[in-house]
Amino acid sequence: MSSAETPLTTALPAVKVPPGAPFPKALQGIAFTISRRWTVQRMARRYGDIFRLNVPVYGDTVVVANPQLAKQVFTTSPEDLGNIQPNLSGLLGFGSVFALDGDDHRRRRRLLAPSFHGKSIKNYENIIEEETVREIAGWPEGEAFPTLPSTMRITLNAILRAVFGAEGAELDELRRIIPPWVTLGSRLATLPKPSRTYGRYSPWGRLAEWRRQYDAIIDKLIADERADPNFEERTDVLALLLRSTYEDSSAMSRKDIGDELLTLLAAGHETTAATLAWAFERLSRHPDVLERLVAEAETDENELRQATILEVQRNRTVIDGAGRHVYAPVYELGEWVIPRGYTIIVSISQMHANPEAFPEPDRFDPQRYIGAKPSSFAWIPFGGGARRCVGAVFANMEMDMVLRTVLRHFTIDTTTAPGEKWHSRGIAFTPKDGGRIVVHRRRG
Ligand code: HEM
Repeated sequence: MSSAETPLTTALPAVKVPPGAPFPKALQGIAFTISRRWTVQRMARRYGDIFRLNVPVYGDTVVVANPQLAKQVFTTSPEDLGNIQPNLSGLLGFGSVFALDGDDHRRRRRLLAPSFHGKSIKNYENIIEEETVREIAGWPEGEAFPTLPSTMRITLNAILRAVFGAEGAELDELRRIIPPWVTLGSRLATLPKPSRTYGRYSPWGRLAEWRRQYDAIIDKLIADERADPNFEERTDVLALLLRSTYEDSSAMSRKDIGDELLTLLAAGHETTAATLAWAFERLSRHPDVLERLVAEAETDENELRQATILEVQRNRTVIDGAGRHVYAPVYELGEWVIPRGYTIIVSISQMHANPEAFPEPDRFDPQRYIGAKPSSFAWIPFGGGARRCVGAVFANMEMDMVLRTVLRHFTIDTTTAPGEKWHSRGIAFTPKDGGRIVVHRRRG
């Protein structure tokens, strides 16, 4: 065929999707809904590090668990691989960074970035330490208790103070409405959103009512911040957002600020708390690591504590995937050609179980990272590329502070009990029994 005769459509390579489960979509959907972790593990065992799955809400999906392919996904232009559809906009609002795509997303990330740089994060260390000391003062001695409710309160209070700048009555109000809201919201987030709320006692009606109460508090917080004579010196994220502007000198709208604060809270609270609960669960089962960490906590060093945090995040991954949507007419990924409209999920949990990147992946071993940083495309608890977690540095500082403070105040009993099982809270995975430990207060 001469080039003049070549139809234009041949410019695009033919679609070639990876292998997928031979059973009907409905069955794949049920398996995924009941246990997405189990389903992805089984599929990976059968088909390797890239396969196709039909996922409720997201439809045709390619799951990737290979460092080279993950790197390609994360570094592809957002015009070709954009935000996952549908996303958390239904829960957090269209002004949330989770809802934005393309240029709008890029602009928002630039605006948010300074609030989460190392220098800004330093300002929050005291808040985290104070919140930890306050919470652990009530820990019982000599009896097993779940750490998750405590780590949830610490991370919630830390974000409300560091991000929202909340104190007094507003802090108390937010503390009251946010935990049930986030719990219900993250359960509903993985279901299709109905077009109406079905009354104030239905789940969606309750979310709408919490949002109304939340908006009233945010209005009050913004008014108070603006009226503060020290407004220019304030270091909470709300003040930083109120003071910053986009490149074209426009400012974030009131609605977008409300959506974004809620986003930072929803994204940062449960994830960090779950990882900390896993850290306690892991340490109580690894006496050798615990002993060395205790010794280190007496000093200003944190090399082992940092390695421990990295290993908890790998070995007990709390967010199991990072998703993108194919906008390009077709997307070539390795040997595969994926059509527009597909979802691509980088399976973070499968990537973290890769024996080539992490020999004996089931073994909990912080030593892996002493003197060697993990590869940024194999170790990916915070996702990657343009949508990589905004709060990664904040989360790391927070986990470091909480662990150091606990180790300085308590000894943790070790146990030979088997590891706790996984429990899905909708978005994050927590230890099933809440990361139970037995502690004794250090004297003197
Ligand atoms: C251990 C704790 C945390 C984990 C494991 C975690 C994990 C993640 C993951 C996997 C993503 C998706 C990345 C992607 O699609 O490539 C993400 C996004 C995000 N995270 Fe985190 N996160 C944590 C803590 C935080 C904290 C403390 C904050 C804020 C204070 C935060 C704010 C966000 C935001 C705003 C996004 C959306 C970024 C965007 O779409 O551009 N996260 N996080």
